[in-house]
Formats: sequence, C-alpha cells, structure tokens
Amino acid sequence: KEIFLKDYKPTDYAFERVELKFVLDEDRTIVKSIINVVPRSETSNPPLVLDGRDLKLLSVKINGEVVKSNNLSLTSRHLTLSTPPSSPFTLEVDTELHPEKNLSLEGLYKSGGNFCTQCEAEGFRKITFFQDRPDVMAIFTTTIEADKTKYPVLLSNGNLIDHGDLEDGKHFAVWEDPFKKPSYLFALVAGQLESREDTFTTCSGRLVHLRIWTPAQDIPKTAHAMRSLKSAMKWDEDVFGLEYDLDLFNIVAVPDFNMGAMENKSLNIFNSKLVLASPETATDADYSSILGVIGHEYFHNWTGNRVTCRNWFQLSLKEGLTVFRDQEFSSDMGSRPVKRISDVLRLRLSQFAEDAGPMAHPVRPHSYIKMDNFYTVTVYEKGAEVVRMYQTLLGKQGFRKGMDLYFERHDGQAVACEDFFAAMRDANEADMSSFLLWYSQAGTPLLTVTTAYNPDTRCFTLKCRQEIPPTPGQPLKEPMLIPLAVGLLNSKGHDMPLSDVLDGELPLSLTDASGQAVTTAILRVEKAEQEFTFVNIPEKPVASLLRNFSAPVRLLQPDITDDDLLFLLAHDSDEFNRWEAAQIMGRKLMLNLIEQLQQGGKLSVDSAYIEGLRSILCDPLLDKEFVTKAITLPAESELVDLMTVADPDAIHTVRRFLIRAIASSLRKELEYAVEENRSLEPYDPNHSSMARRALKNTALAYLASLDQPEATELALQEYRTATNMTEQFAALVAIAQNPGEARTSALSDFYEQWKHEFLVVNKWLALQAVSDIPNNVENVRQLLDHPAFDIRNPNKVYALIGGFCGSVVNLHAKDGSGYKFLADVVLKLDKLNPQVASRLVTAFSRWRRFDDGRQALAKEQLERIAKVEGLSDNVYEIASKSLVS
Ligand code: ARG
Ligand code: ZN
Repeated sequence: KEIFLKDYKPTDYAFERVELKFVLDEDRTIVKSIINVVPRSETSNPPLVLDGRDLKLLSVKINGEVVKSNNLSLTSRHLTLSTPPSSPFTLEVDTELHPEKNLSLEGLYKSGGNFCTQCEAEGFRKITFFQDRPDVMAIFTTTIEADKTKYPVLLSNGNLIDHGDLEDGKHFAVWEDPFKKPSYLFALVAGQLESREDTFTTCSGRLVHLRIWTPAQDIPKTAHAMRSLKSAMKWDEDVFGLEYDLDLFNIVAVPDFNMGAMENKSLNIFNSKLVLASPETATDADYSSILGVIGHEYFHNWTGNRVTCRNWFQLSLKEGLTVFRDQEFSSDMGSRPVKRISDVLRLRLSQFAEDAGPMAHPVRPHSYIKMDNFYTVTVYEKGAEVVRMYQTLLGKQGFRKGMDLYFERHDGQAVACEDFFAAMRDANEADMSSFLLWYSQAGTPLLTVTTAYNPDTRCFTLKCRQEIPPTPGQPLKEPMLIPLAVGLLNSKGHDMPLSDVLDGELPLSLTDASGQAVTTAILRVEKAEQEFTFVNIPEKPVASLLRNFSAPVRLLQPDITDDDLLFLLAHDSDEFNRWEAAQIMGRKLMLNLIEQLQQGGKLSVDSAYIEGLRSILCDPLLDKEFVTKAITLPAESELVDLMTVADPDAIHTVRRFLIRAIASSLRKELEYAVEENRSLEPYDPNHSSMARRALKNTALAYLASLDQPEATELALQEYRTATNMTEQFAALVAIAQNPGEARTSALSDFYEQWKHEFLVVNKWLALQAVSDIPNNVENVRQLLDHPAFDIRNPNKVYALIGGFCGSVVNLHAKDGSGYKFLADVVLKLDKLNPQVASRLVTAFSRWRRFDDGRQALAKEQLERIAKVEGLSDNVYEIASKSLVS
C-alpha cells in the first residue's frame, strides 16, 4: 500500500506518558505498556488505531478494565479500539514477542548474545502496539527486568532512576527520559557489556558522563570513538551554540545492524564497524567514518531529537541538515577541500545515478510503499547540499541566524521542511521563494554556461541555461534558484576583483560587508535562461564556475578548452575546482578513448593530461591527500552514467589502459612518492599523516598496475613491513589487482593473520568480491559458503554482495551471470532481512543504461524477483518501480 504526503493528518489522540516494562527472556519476552491517552477532540471519539507487527497480543485494558473483544479488532498490522472514551484515559496493552527469532534487525532483537533495538523508521510497532509515527511525542519511562548473570547491563533512554535485585537471579533497572520523543527514538540494550568512561563539561558547566559500551575485549578499540564524541560535543557548542541536555550519554556498539548507527535519545546504537578502531585493524577511512558518524548521531540530539519530523516525508529535515553538520564538523577536524571533494564524489557517483534512474524522488518524497527504502542518498546527501545552499546564499552568519530562529520557534516540536525554510528566510529577511522547489522536484538540474568577452566594453558575459530532466511522475519542471559561485582568473592565474555585475539589466554590487570587492561572486540563477555580465574586466579571463560545487547540478561548459582546464588545474584559488579540472579532463579523455576502442582503433594518450598530473604530483606545496584525489581517475560507474549506451567492457579496458599509461609515464615520480611518504612515526589519524599514507598508497597501486616483477616486489615488501591496517590493506589491494600466485598467497596470508577479527575479515571479503577478474562471480558464489560469511550479518552481506555489485564488469557481465547471482541472493535474504535485501536490489536500477542484450537479462531477473509469492514490501517496491519504464 502506497502512502502519500498529501494525505497527512494529525492523530485524533495524543499520547502524553508511556510506561514500558520489559521482562526479557531467552525464548519469550513480555512487554507491558501503559499509555496516558488524550483525545484531541472532546466531542467525538473516533476509533484509535495502533500499529503492531509480529506481536502476540495478551491483553488490552482501558482505565484498568479489560476491553471486550467486540470493541477490538486485530489484523496482522493493526489493533483498533472501536469506541475509546472521549476524555483522557489509560490504555494498558500486554504483548509477547520473540527477539531471538527476529532476523530483520528491526524492533527488539539479539545481536552477539545481547538484546538491542532499532526503531527508526517503523520498528517500534514490532515491540508493542502503538501510534508508531514521529508526530506522536511522549515522555517515556522504561523498566527492564532480566537475568543478572546473562544480562548484567540494562540500558534505556534518559536517566537511571532506580535499579536493584529481584528473586531468581534477576535484576531490574528503571530509566526515565525527561524529554518528549517519538517512538522511533526509543532504545533498549541488555547484555554483557563493558564501558569506556569519560566526561565532558558543557559550556554552561554541566558535567556529562560519557560511556561507550562493547564486549570486554573490544574496549581498547573505543579510544578514537570517545575522542570523536568529545570533539563533536565541543564543536556543536562552538559553531552552533548547541549544548548537550542530559547528564549521561551512552553509545553501544553491536555487530548486527542494518545501517550505520541510530541517534536514540542519550543511547546511540552503532554498527560496530563505526565505533571500533585500532591502528592494526582499522584503516584511515575507518577512522574518518567513525569521526563523521559519531558526530552525525550526536548532532541529531538537536537536529532530529529536540526538533523532529512531522511525518516521514520530512526525513531530510533532520537527515539532510545533520549530514551537512557532520560534513562541516569533519572539514573543521581535517582538510576542508579534501572533505568537500569526497562528499561531492559520493553525491555524483550515487545520488546523480539515483536521480537519473527509476527510483528518482525529490528530497522530500511525495509517496512511499516502505519508508525504509527512502533512507537514500537523495534524502541524505542531496538534502545536505540543499542545506549547504542556504549557507552559500545567506552566508555563514546568516545561516547561523536561521538556525537560531529554527530552534527558538520549534524546540520540542515535530515540524516540516517548510518550517526550516521559513526560519532561514525570516531570520535573514531573504527573498528565496523558488528555492522551495529543491524539496519537491526530483532530477539533477543540467546547468549549461557559455561565456563571451568583449575587449571594447571590457565586459565578460555568462549565459546560463538550466534544465531539469523528467523523472518518474514528474514530466515537467520549473526553474529553481541555483547559487552559482564564480571566480575569474587573469592571465597570471590570480583572482580578479569582482565589484559589479549586471543580472540582465539589473546592476548588482558584489562588495562584501567591509566594502571590498569579492573574488568569488554568488550569482542567483533563477530563470530557465539568464545572463550575467561582469563589468570592468581588463582582460579575457578564465572562468572558474560552480566553485566549491555551490549547487548539486551537472555543469556543462561547451566552450571550455583543454588549455583552460590545465590553467585552472594549475592556478585556481578554489581547490575544489582545481581537482574538478583534472576530473573533467579525465572524463573527456576516457570518453574519447572508449570511442577509439569501439571503432577498433589503437589507444593512445595525449601527453598534456599526463603532464598536468605530473605537475600536481610533484608540487610540494599541495596537500598530499588533495594530490591523491587529483591523480585518481573518475570511477567506471561515473562513465556508465555519461554514455548513451553504457559499455562496461570498454569502460573497464580504457580505465585500466589509462592507469597503466599514467603509471609508466610517471613511474619515477610515483616511486619517489612511495619512498618519501613511508611512515616514520607510530600511527596517528591526524590529517597530515593520513595524507602521506593516502599518497603513498595511491602511488603504490599505480605502480603495481604495471604487473611487473619489480613493482609487485615493492608492493609485497610494503605488505610485509606494514605496521598499520591502512598500509597493509592498501598493499594487499595493490597486489590483488593482478591475477596470479602473488595475489593468491597474499590473500590467504591475510586471512590467516586476521581470521579472528570480524571487521578485518569483512575487508578481505569485500576486496575479493569487488575484483574485476573475469568471471569473478564464481569465486563470490564460493565465498557464500566460506566460514567467514554469514548471510544474517548485514556487514558481511554488504562486504560480499555489495562488494560484487561494485564491479561494473562483473555485475553487468554479458552472459547475465552477475544479474542471476544477485537475484538469487536477494530472494534468499528477503526471507530473513527485507531491509538489507531491498538495498541490494537497487544495484539493478541502472539496467536501462546498457545494451539490449544486457537489458533483457537484467529485466528477466527483476521480473523473477517481483513475481515471488510472499515478497516483502521493501523488495517489491524497488523491483516493481525498476521495471516501470
Ligand atoms: N537515523 C539514522 C541515521 O541516519 C538512520 C536510521 C535508518 N534506519 C532505517 N531503518 N532505515 O543516523
Ligand atoms: Zn542521521
């Protein structure tokens, strides 16, 4: 059943207080709930409909009296009370459930022998009957009873107000959360856990106890997570003036978790891989994700919990905003340009693809069948870009004023995206009406900009045209407000001062607050076609457009030359655009090579591009991680989206060819980069050490691509001498590019060394799965039976099956073997964990981009999935939408 935004209505009944009691047991858990229900109208008493799934109803009482069965109706999804009282009453519902059998990992389930919960979006209804929606906010008190030996630690939201021993070796704890919250923020954890403890004193002097809970043996691996938490708490005070509001903050790491982590009030629950790290077992990338996600969940305390969503269509209200906040946090902790490049890459690789496919939806979707399917890169990452555009348009201070007003108006409320928009607008008295379309129109705008310089008038003109492609259900679009950041470089490569611009006929001043001319102008592109003229431009400039990726659009510059790009690569003051110049050249080059290949020509590379890379690689003044990003070619999947008919084999051949061409031309420089950037000190996850390792590892991978004995020997030596996982694993990846003896023995050596570390084993699975070795699908099928794999654990599924989907050549193998394999796994997994199964199905979504033969094979598998009897709503929604043309 499809749910629509336009059908939203508030509930007829409010829930004020909720008292929950859990009697946890190995094979049968009892949940008793007592709710203070307040009818919103005193004159009528419409039926009260409670959500509930996979629950056994034991009893229902109203004001202490058992409700007669003729006043109740129970289906597999709802419990309806047909004639509740029209004045406030107490509702008591007792249910029985079986967490030990719950493999969906939503609601109450067991992970690593402990009990834990995941309620967002609609998991609370698997715990007890409830109005399970985010606009029903209540004060929760939770009592937990369990065996004291098996479950010594009992946690829930808020403050511990009572605890003690009971008969028969049992004990109990009572938790009270003083803040009203929706059911999706409820959490409970019970089990054998130890904690790392620390404290944080807030800006107003509140002492907060911080605890990170894991099984005893993992405590040493929580130091980085704790440091990250404390930095996040400080940062939110410094940057947004937001202070933590309770005396206790708990984080629990669990090995079985569908997503990354969850912001439950004062009891965040995390996928272990986003908490646990040691230099020997985690990579720099892991350290960075831990910092970002610990920040993200912590920041939700204000953007998500104190101010939450009125309905699930508004998900981006909290997620887009919180992703923006975690991106800014990570930028401040590391390198801003490098973080921006990573975030834009992710947006372009995943979100642009989503926006161009069958699941395209606006940042605020209009409808859904299963909400879990809308925890997407569009809602999260494009949503974060929408928030970033407010900041670009209003400035940092203006943005902060908007945030302050948002909290002033809406603390304690469940609100909608318009409320955030209105706070930003009102706090700045800004006119930005066409901006709201970013929430309702799907599709990536195409922004085409051509330029002209007139030496007589000293005018430089930008002609802009915006076009938003049709998406499912949205054939026609309106132009939107696009902030276009522009800089103009003079012939020395310096930014020109920009003081005046004409928007059409309208003169605009570009001076900043202190009256100085700016060097980056933020133009407001609002019409389908619009011209901007910079006046007093003494010479023909090279334009640097969409600086820092000022809007989530595809920028086309039909008249930009390779010389312009090389010039920008060498001189642009905007580091993002220096990187972008290299990417544009790389994409153009690869597309040309693909054409050459398809026409049976011999492949050859133009040296200007390689010389551009050489000068970047040899520039000692550049940040080393920036260099790494700049010398990395666009991904195969990016090329898939740029071709009219994607040819995975040609894309792969060309990319490998180009990598080898770069490696042999820049061999000396790359060898030097490996030598120069070996670790001297013990592992440290600070930016400059990470940047050294990144450059060294990228250079090593280039060299090893040559598949020559010397290069392989170098990689093996790096592998053997590595003292941290970042370098050990990178060396293994370098070696594993080429089939052969070295690869086989390194892989088995690595497994032997790390088979007892489940998070490291997942890297080993992923590395093999993503391999481009022909017919790798057979190896992956065999790995399904390897003792290291377990289909019930989402991390292992993402590593092995998700990893396989990352190989464009093998997923889209001409014989359809990749599609068949993926469908087999999806159907098996759907019976256990529909959320994870449906994430895998999204790998099919680009099937129409390929040739007829591949299309037919992919379609056959999608149809096979869609027609299965008893398919979950999750998988059904993605499979059926992927089939609609
Ligand atoms: N709110 C969580 C986060 O972004 C994600 C929860 C996702 N849950 C789900 N069932 N899709 O931090
Ligand atoms: Zn989030």
